[in-house]
Amino acid sequence: MNKNFIFPKNFWWGSATSGPQSEGSFNKKHKSIFDYWYEIEPEVFFNKVGPEVTSNFYNSYKEDLAMLKEIGLNSFRTSIQWTRLIKNLETGEADEDAIEFYNNVIDETIKNGIIPVINLHHFDLPVELYDKYGGWESKHVVDLFVKFAETAFKLFADRVKYWTTFNEPIVIVEGQYLYQFHYPKVVNGKKAMQVLYNVNLASSKVVKVFKSRGYDKDGGQIGTILNLTPSYPRDINNTEDVEAARIADTFFNESFLSPAVKGEFPKLLIEILEKEGVIWQSTEEELNIIKENTIDFLGVNYYFPRRVKAKETTCNSKEWMPDKYFDNYEMPGRRMNPYRGWEIYPKAIYDIAINIRDNYNNIPWFISENGMGVEGEERYINTEGIVEDDYRIDFFKEHLENLHKGIEEGANCFGYHTWTPIDCWSWCNAYKNRYGFIALDLETQKKTIKKSGRWIKEVTEKNGF
Ligand code: BG6
Repeated sequence: MNKNFIFPKNFWWGSATSGPQSEGSFNKKHKSIFDYWYEIEPEVFFNKVGPEVTSNFYNSYKEDLAMLKEIGLNSFRTSIQWTRLIKNLETGEADEDAIEFYNNVIDETIKNGIIPVINLHHFDLPVELYDKYGGWESKHVVDLFVKFAETAFKLFADRVKYWTTFNEPIVIVEGQYLYQFHYPKVVNGKKAMQVLYNVNLASSKVVKVFKSRGYDKDGGQIGTILNLTPSYPRDINNTEDVEAARIADTFFNESFLSPAVKGEFPKLLIEILEKEGVIWQSTEEELNIIKENTIDFLGVNYYFPRRVKAKETTCNSKEWMPDKYFDNYEMPGRRMNPYRGWEIYPKAIYDIAINIRDNYNNIPWFISENGMGVEGEERYINTEGIVEDDYRIDFFKEHLENLHKGIEEGANCFGYHTWTPIDCWSWCNAYKNRYGFIALDLETQKKTIKKSGRWIKEVTEKNGF
């Protein structure tokens, strides 16, 4: 017998994108690190497609939001770009055109009966702040980010009730300072750990401003978005594998989860960094800010698990790297999304739900991204011009079933957002893999609802499936 999966009342059914991946860089006053990277190395980006136009949301937000309504979404996350909103990066003064644009987007979202969830940083550091101060290595940049956040709250918090500080902050550390997949592609473990600390501090300082200025009155809430990749040991009966997984977890999950929810860094992380001589510079005052300004709610991006085994190889890097403590493990027979190269493992959503319930105060949280990027979706277009993406529907169902089980067992999850409403620009992968409920024809900018878009409408109407 088929089971029905009905979700709690007022469940968020929605989808997420970000400013730099959907708006296009029309009328922006500053360049982000991605705008700049594309300028100097366009060949790094799939088919040399850059961030100038992306999905044209800057010009087509009205039509796009109407389509989100048409597929039944009740909530939508995007981000305000620092490089668009802020005219003067030192003072935090806003740009008039950007104020008008974001006001329009927010008003139009609400007019369509959709809850706006606004994020403040989605990998899009203004490149000037890297050139001048070393970006997130600098505590001055932390304070400039706080000014930007304050400007955003002043302008939009009367209507936006759900704010998030960062999207996947660990990716800044990994991409920019360890594994070279984001500009400036530095490899420096010590700097990486300072950045990890500074970004945590920036998030807590923004939470502090939000609360101390009273934006939490009248239903305002602030959270952060973390990509949780639970670490599974190769062999649960091998203590060295289990220890390697525990350390990977502390670096890649708990390093942001613990400060955000509990106000402190994991002891194991501090122990290792002290032993290795790569601990960050902090002050008592800053640590108190982190202690006292924890989040109201958490967003969890989940795509794939991490599989880990005890260290077998020698680390070739001259730099200190977290990888000194574990090796990544390619589990034989793992189920893959071959286009993105990510393992598909829906049960991890259940494990995340139970972990938050048992170890993170059962804080209110939602799945803020989950999705399947597929290359060459034109293959699946039927005679009526619709992409028949049954594989995506199956992917969502499997993940939702696991989420449902977690909720039945007491997880405090209030929503599920997919990545992404309309096919959008995927950083270096540009438009290689498509994730949307709505297909984008890059040449004409025509947008067409896929089969999964019709499916999600039914799900939101029934509050389940
Ligand atoms: C998340 C990010 O990591 O995954 C998004 O928050 C990103 O910005 C999404 O686009 C999908 O990953 P990718 O690399 O395929 O675009």
